[in-house]
Amino acid sequence: MSALRIGVIGAGIMGADHANTLRRSIRGAEVTAVADVDLARAKAAADGARAYDDAFALIADPAVDAVVIASHDSVHAAQVVAAVKAGKAVLCEKPLAPTLAEGRQVLREIGDTGEALLSLGFMRRFDPGYAALRQAIDDGSIGAPVLVHNVSRGVSSAPNATSEFSITGSAIHECDVVPWLLRSPVVEVSWVAPRRSAQAVEGLQDPQLIHLRTADGVLSTVETFLNARYGYVVRCEVVGENGTISLTEPARVVVEGDLARSTGYAADWRPRFADAYRLELQAWVDSVLAGAPTSLATGRDGVAASAVAEAVIASMHNAGRVTKVEAP
Ligand SMILES: NC(=O)c1ccc[n+]([C@@H]2O[C@H](COP(=O)([O-])OP(=O)(O)OC[C@H]3O[C@@H](n4cnc5c(N)ncnc54)[C@H](O)[C@@H]3O)[C@@H](O)[C@H]2O)c1
Repeated sequence: MSALRIGVIGAGIMGADHANTLRRSIRGAEVTAVADVDLARAKAAADGARAYDDAFALIADPAVDAVVIASHDSVHAAQVVAAVKAGKAVLCEKPLAPTLAEGRQVLREIGDTGEALLSLGFMRRFDPGYAALRQAIDDGSIGAPVLVHNVSRGVSSAPNATSEFSITGSAIHECDVVPWLLRSPVVEVSWVAPRRSAQAVEGLQDPQLIHLRTADGVLSTVETFLNARYGYVVRCEVVGENGTISLTEPARVVVEGDLARSTGYAADWRPRFADAYRLELQAWVDSVLAGAPTSLATGRDGVAASAVAEAVIASMHNAGRVTKVEAP
C-alpha cells in the first residue's frame, strides 16, 4: 500500500482540522473522502475529495482503507462497529461512546480481531509536554508521585452543554491521561463543586472539581471549567516525594509594554494540542501501514476512561459520595 486512503467522518471543528492535518503534515496519508450529515460541510472539508452525507456510504467506499471518526459523540459507537466490521482501521475521537455500557457493547460487537483495528483519540498521550511528564516520573527525578493537580479551562461552553457533558466531553481526557501518566488505574473518585458561575448555561454546573484516586494511592485533583472566559488552558503538576514537575504554558512570544509583560492564550484546544494531533495522526498512519499494533490509546483504554467518567457522574448525582470505579 503506497498511501493510506483515509475517510473522515464528521466535518466539524475536529474533523476539518484532522482532514487538513492529514493533507498537509502526515507522511503516507491521503484523504479520499469526507462524510457529514451536513453535505456542504463535508464538501468544504473534502477539498476536492469525495463528499458524502452518509457515514455508512463512506465506510463502504472501496477507495477508503481507514476511517477517522470525528462526528457527534452519540454516533461514534455505531460508526466504529460498522467500520471495523468492514475491515477498516479506525481512529475514533474520544469518547468511544457517551456511556460505559455503550463502550462495552462496542468491544463485544467487534471482538478481539476488531479491537486490533481500533485506536482512540486521546491525543494528550502524544503531547510533548505530557510525554515529558511521564518520562520524568519514570526516571524517578521527582521521587514517587503523591499528588497530581490538573486544570482544564475553556472560553465558553456549547449552548447545550450539561454537567455530565463536562465529564464525558472534557474531563474524560484526565480520566485517561492520569492513569497513563502514573501507570496505575483509577479505582475511586469523588465530585464536588462551588456555586455555579453566572456564565454557565442552565443545566451546567460550572466549574467542577474531581478527585481521582489511582491504585498506587496517588490522589489527583481535576478542575474543569468550561466557561473560564479568559482563554483555553490545560495545566498538570505532578507532586513527588522529592520535587514537582509541571507542564509549562506554551507561548512563542512575550509582549512587554505599558508597564506589563504578557503572553497570549489560545481560544480553544486546537493550537494548544496541534503538535499532539499531528504526532498522533502520524503514529496511527505509520502503524496501520506497517500492520503493527496501534501505539495510540485502544478501545479498552476508551472503556476504562468511560468507567472513570461514569463513577464521577454517579458521585455528582450522589452528593459527592466517594465512588468505586467499576472494572472496565
Ligand atoms: N481530542 C480532542 O481534543 C477533541 C476536542 C474536541 C472534540 N473532540 C471530539 O471530536 C468529535 C467532534 O467534535 P467537534 O468539536 O468537531 O464537534 P462539531 O459539532 O464541530 O462537529 C461534529 C460534526 O459531526 C457531524 N455529524 C453529526 N452526526 C453525524 C453523523 N451521524 N454522521 C456524520 N456526521 C455527523 C456534525 O454535522 C458536525 O459537522 C466529538 O466526538 C468530540 O468529543 C475531541
